[in-house]
Amino acid sequence: MPRILAFSGSARKDSFNQRLVTIAARAAEEAGAEVTLLNLADYPLPIFNEDLEAEGTPDNALKLKKLFLAHDGLLISCPEYNSSITPLLKNTIDWVSRPIEGEPRLAAYQYKVATLMAASPGALGGLRGLVHVRAILQNIGVTVLPGQVAVGGAAGAFAADGSLKDEKQQASIASLGSGLANYLQRLSD
Ligand code: FNR
Repeated sequence: MPRILAFSGSARKDSFNQRLVTIAARAAEEAGAEVTLLNLADYPLPIFNEDLEAEGTPDNALKLKKLFLAHDGLLISCPEYNSSITPLLKNTIDWVSRPIEGEPRLAAYQYKVATLMAASPGALGGLRGLVHVRAILQNIGVTVLPGQVAVGGAAGAFAADGSLKDEKQQASIASLGSGLANYLQRLSD
């Protein structure tokens, strides 16, 4: 059974991106994957600094690293901040990228497959930021699947139950989740 780690690049309480990744995560589960849905707000970390690291890797970085190592796939919904990745997601990627106790470099990212999505109140839905998220992940060894969806007008896009009001949009986010689960299943067959 493929194992998928799902999270957003926002720690905001009512994050649109956390809602979006939750839809994809449920669909991945329905497609047969074992999904761990995280909220990065539960893993606060200082901004990465090699001096801090030399004093000892924070517990939350170690916990996140273990979670990455224990999963085959990543479902990530990242807001766009000033046309790029959020500092939260980049900081998480940086802490998790650091080798611990003789591990190979970037061990947490090798052989991982990721699917990306974004939500924004703006018209483009965060599409420009995903270009950067994709490039960063690919450069550290993650296979990022070509399909991605950016949901614009996010402030009015979600129903009270967390689903997307637009059925086609709901189906396209769900298919990102089920698509990743199916892709990982095919790899292991
Ligand atoms: C934004 N936002 C934003 N939106 C966008 O579509 N393009 C952008 O370049 C930016 N830039 C940006 C910078 C900063 C510093 C902030 C705080 C916000 C708006 C952003 O999409 C909006 O706050 C979302 O609601 C953030 O996602 P979550 O937290 O709802 O998941």
